[in-house]
Amino acid sequence: MSEAPELVLRGGHVALPWGLTQTDVGVREGRIVTIGDVPKGAREIDCRHLHVLPGLIDTQVHFREPGLEHKEDLRTGTAGAALGGITAVFEMPNTKPNTDTAERLADKVARGRAKAHTDFAFFIGATTGNADHLGELERLEGCSGVKIFMGSSTGTLLVAEDDAIEAVLRNGRRRVAVHCEDEKRLIERKPRAAEGEPGTHHVWRDQQTAIRATERLLALAKRTGRPVHVLHVTTATEARRLAESKHLATMEVTPQHLLLHAPDCYERLGTHAQMNPPIREKEHSEALWAALRVGVVDVIGSDHAPHTLDEKAKTYPASPSGLPGVQTTVPLLLDAVHRGQLPLMRLVDLLAHGPQRIYDILGKGRIAVGWDADFTIVDLAKKRTIERSWIASRCGWSPFEGREVVGWPVRTVVRGHDAMVDDELQSIDAQPVRFVGTQRGDA
Ligand code: DOR
Repeated sequence: MSEAPELVLRGGHVALPWGLTQTDVGVREGRIVTIGDVPKGAREIDCRHLHVLPGLIDTQVHFREPGLEHKEDLRTGTAGAALGGITAVFEMPNTKPNTDTAERLADKVARGRAKAHTDFAFFIGATTGNADHLGELERLEGCSGVKIFMGSSTGTLLVAEDDAIEAVLRNGRRRVAVHCEDEKRLIERKPRAAEGEPGTHHVWRDQQTAIRATERLLALAKRTGRPVHVLHVTTATEARRLAESKHLATMEVTPQHLLLHAPDCYERLGTHAQMNPPIREKEHSEALWAALRVGVVDVIGSDHAPHTLDEKAKTYPASPSGLPGVQTTVPLLLDAVHRGQLPLMRLVDLLAHGPQRIYDILGKGRIAVGWDADFTIVDLAKKRTIERSWIASRCGWSPFEGREVVGWPVRTVVRGHDAMVDDELQSIDAQPVRFVGTQRGDA
């Protein structure tokens, strides 16, 4: 090696693509340049008692900018990400206005460049009006792909009918991320949402609401040949159908659907457990764990969807749906590793290798020479309690407050620059351009 590295991660247990190895990693100009015996660098970090993971990526967050900054913005959202050990985020299009044109995407990218603590990309929202342009829109700089809401959730984005969904799937080539709830059934069953009883949320938006939409999507994916990704899967039946349909669709689950269940979560948390699709009974979370262990689940996304405490204090069902989560995903999953529920390399697969693979991310998601120097450095033995005072989100709360965990992110490194060290956010001024490149279907 000719020049000394600018940064060396010395002696950590490094999650290389084929498994854990105690070794050194050398970084120059934001990229990994050496793995193995690395000469002394300008800056050295002693990682001997730590695990060095590829930068973990959260591919489903709602950061509310522009238009809803009283809940969150790109600075506070990515601050939570960096504090929680996340190095890159994919942000959802149900902002105000919706991210559904090239101009609105470019506006978000410019905002992200000015204020993000982590790397980022943005989804374009599919509408019945923009379907013909999605093939071009999905290839724009800073775009992570197209998102479809098949059922109404927070905001106004909706593509409910099969022919309209088919039109979206027939325009473009990249994997399309889909919120699967059947709009017709949601409307029919709305009276089952009992005033003041958030525990009826999963009765209104029942299993069949999710299953029917996922079945319809699988049929359309088969007909069009377009790869699709089913976001936040919640039912045992969908997990089974998606296991049979790996050739058509990839699958995501959230930490809250794995770790919380009805009726307990609604009794303890009320509207703070209200989200779409809903948290369901334990048999479903157990089925999601089983799917996760055998490799049917491709990625974990937080579906970070902040709403303020005042908004959440409204009487159900006037209360908005969504839970914050970008900051707590890594600690919660490290704790699952500690409990023996999840091998550490499977966590890496779900939050780094999986996102890279399904969304075709360029140069991120693995520790390999030439790839971006993004790292999530964790202390597997560190005991902590998740506290409200640690949460950076403008919403100012977490459904996991008070939970004790073992395993904690201690440093977040984005392209060779520290974004977080020991719970302290670092200045973003020194950081290089920040957005996530993808192959954008150029080939
Ligand atoms: O609960 C949810 N909240 N589900 C979604 O699909 C959207 C999200 C939000 O943006 O608040």
